[in-house]
Amino acid sequence: AAVEKGRFRHFMQKEIFEQPTVVAQTLGSYLRRVEQQVALPQMDFALADVRRITIVACGTSFYAGMVAKYWFEQFARVPVDLDVASEFRYRNPVLEPGGLALFISQSGETADTLAALRHSKAHGQKIAVVVNVPTSSMAREADLLLSTHAGPEIGVASTKAFTCQLAVLAAVAAHLAVVKGKMTREEEQDAVRHLLEAPAALNAALAHDADIAAMAPLIAPARDVLYLGRGPDYPLALEGALKLKEISYIHAEGYASGEMKHGPIALIDEAVPVIVLAPSGPLFEKTVSNMQEVRARGGKVVLISDAAGIAEAGEGCLATIEMPTVHPLIAPLVYAVPVQLLAYHVAVAKGTDVDQPRNLAKSVTVE
Ligand code: G6P
Repeated sequence: AAVEKGRFRHFMQKEIFEQPTVVAQTLGSYLRRVEQQVALPQMDFALADVRRITIVACGTSFYAGMVAKYWFEQFARVPVDLDVASEFRYRNPVLEPGGLALFISQSGETADTLAALRHSKAHGQKIAVVVNVPTSSMAREADLLLSTHAGPEIGVASTKAFTCQLAVLAAVAAHLAVVKGKMTREEEQDAVRHLLEAPAALNAALAHDADIAAMAPLIAPARDVLYLGRGPDYPLALEGALKLKEISYIHAEGYASGEMKHGPIALIDEAVPVIVLAPSGPLFEKTVSNMQEVRARGGKVVLISDAAGIAEAGEGCLATIEMPTVHPLIAPLVYAVPVQLLAYHVAVAKGTDVDQPRNLAKSVTVE
């Protein structure tokens, strides 16, 4: 049956609001609730023997891979290489025996990612894929198929596929950490419990839809917007900038918060909104000082943080958006929501074609 928009104005909006449901569905196939354990599908190789992981993807899927690099290295201590497919396939990458190559793709058909998969296979890598279309080419050619259960994604700009990719990758990170002996059974149970809290946290984030819609007219006139984040929220800053570019046609850049002083700070003035993604935590102080650097130059900050972060640094911001207080493992899923909603409402305010942005394709099956 054809997918309908129902009560929503755009498919993208509908897909943003589906995230609590589809993330729960996806997690349901990787987590055992009773045992509080991660369970991956059967594979013909031992994950414990994997010495290095190479992650390759394009677009939004690439940013999911970038979050995964932080997780795999931090929790499992497995070194990760990360590349966009169009670079990877032509740079003659070093692929050693015992390597696992992981491809992330909503469609499972993106030409560069598929070519990178075949190149890796020909060079002796085990192949894992995180895909949303289980009948796709990538799914068929993989040794390990990790499906996302986001359902059909119609909006050209990816939203629910991204958070479902993150859900799978977080489960894989925890499992990898266990088989590598870097996570105890108790820590695994703890991680599983936190992952199971993700759908409720996504709902709490979605509850800010109206505030974000009200704020969109402040961002819509901007010519440039800067997004800042640190650690696993740095890829979210990149994703936020990509979403805004894709559907509102405003020039946007994502930067690692600490790197701002090495360039983008030169652009800051009253006309450049700076969106800061910063859950409270050990590095929050550093981000606060980056915000002060922005404000000292007249820049307008939109702070996306939790209650503690906003209490500490919300004063003097153009706007604040309060996210629920969550475990760091699910923060990237939760912080995806406000950046999606912000891009969506700015695009609506500008009157662009949200579901079919100019010059973009849902799936790029030619080089
Ligand atoms: C296109 C789409 C993006 C998507 C990217 C990768 O550029 O417009 O939304 O992130 O392709 O697609 P994939 O299907 O491989 O995830």
